[in-house]
Amino acid sequence: MIKSPSPTDSASKVVQVDLGDRSYPIFIGSAELSRVNLNTYIQGQKALIVTNDTIASLYLDLVLGSLDEKQVDVVVLPDGERFKNLDHLNWIFTKLIEKKHDRKTTLIALGGGVVGDMAGFAAASYQRGVPFIQIPTTLLAQVDSSVGGKTGVNHALGKNMLGAFHQPRAVVIDLNVLNTLPNKQFAAGMAEVIKYGLITDYDFLQWLETNAQKLLNRDENALAYAIEKSCIDKAMVVSADETEQGMRAILNLGHTFGHAIETFQEYTGFLHGEAVAIGMLMAMEVSVLAGHLVDQDVQRIRSLLEVFSLPSRPPDDMVSTDFTSLMYRDKKVLDGKLRLVLLRALGDAYVEVDSSESLLEKVLISACGS
Ligand code: NAD
Ligand code: GLY
Repeated sequence: MIKSPSPTDSASKVVQVDLGDRSYPIFIGSAELSRVNLNTYIQGQKALIVTNDTIASLYLDLVLGSLDEKQVDVVVLPDGERFKNLDHLNWIFTKLIEKKHDRKTTLIALGGGVVGDMAGFAAASYQRGVPFIQIPTTLLAQVDSSVGGKTGVNHALGKNMLGAFHQPRAVVIDLNVLNTLPNKQFAAGMAEVIKYGLITDYDFLQWLETNAQKLLNRDENALAYAIEKSCIDKAMVVSADETEQGMRAILNLGHTFGHAIETFQEYTGFLHGEAVAIGMLMAMEVSVLAGHLVDQDVQRIRSLLEVFSLPSRPPDDMVSTDFTSLMYRDKKVLDGKLRLVLLRALGDAYVEVDSSESLLEKVLISACGS
């Protein structure tokens, strides 16, 4: 049973992801990178840090300095979602092979969701699987992508189309690294935090509404609570359905729309979290047509997203048929049927299998024309 956190207590916390022999801790606190001994989670004599050129200049030395005597190699990827592909994944494999890393090596993902997804997928597939540690440095990665073991890369024809489930050995969330995170990236992470309130946790959603200004100002106690609560909510869903046979899909509220936007813009437009914010509102519009929500619910969440200057409308040059053709490439399409995550109520998401297509079309036409 995961203990519910208190909004005022900002000491270091540990949230456990319960997955039998693949269970792992998520450490959360300011200065966790100095406090947590990473060496505990590295069994062999070699490790490989995967990072990017932005984060390397900020935090690589701190992580290198915390590792005991062992061979530590580093791959510095170019920064950006457009590099989350097989070509750049191969940089990691090449380094591992060149430096003779064996099956006892440990990969360390130091960065945002892009680095985490790529390092995780490399760990999942190098010599059929080696351990890895997540050190997420964006808010989005701290509350979402570093937890739960989804790893992968994009294909030019679709987002996250190639990947594997591979759980990390530990996740180390250091709040201090957020001090260098640009506001726009911070806001993108807030979209995923708000997602937890929408899908499973109405009390948390209300807390977020009350504390939105504090979060915008990055109040440390408020931020620590929001991150811990998000990790607890995600850990519960992942522990119940690790490989997304059913309910884990609710974590993708707004993502089918969001991925369509990202693919349409060739990963050079809205940030992932921004696209998810737009997508969550579109999913809520479908939920209104399905008779579950009322317009005021959508307006309420639009206002919350606006506090963080998150976008609420799809790109002007995207029409409804762009959405439908891209949405049908989503991994949630099964047997040609789109499965949309909708809300029964605020704080209560479900996966709609069949009857949402005509409602979806209405929402798409109203949002961006036919
Ligand atoms: P990102 O990894 O591109 O990071 C955003 C930007 O912030 C980058 O320019 C990065 O270099 C910079 N940055 C990172 N940490 C910083 C810091 N502390 N200070 C200053 N700059 C910093 O983007 P993201 O939003 O973290 O992740 C998005 C990716 O995560 C997408 O590819 C998405 O598909 C994936 N994702 C995966 C999962 C999952 O379950 N695996 C869940 C959600 C999202
Ligand atoms: N971000 C969706 C998931 O982890 O399932």
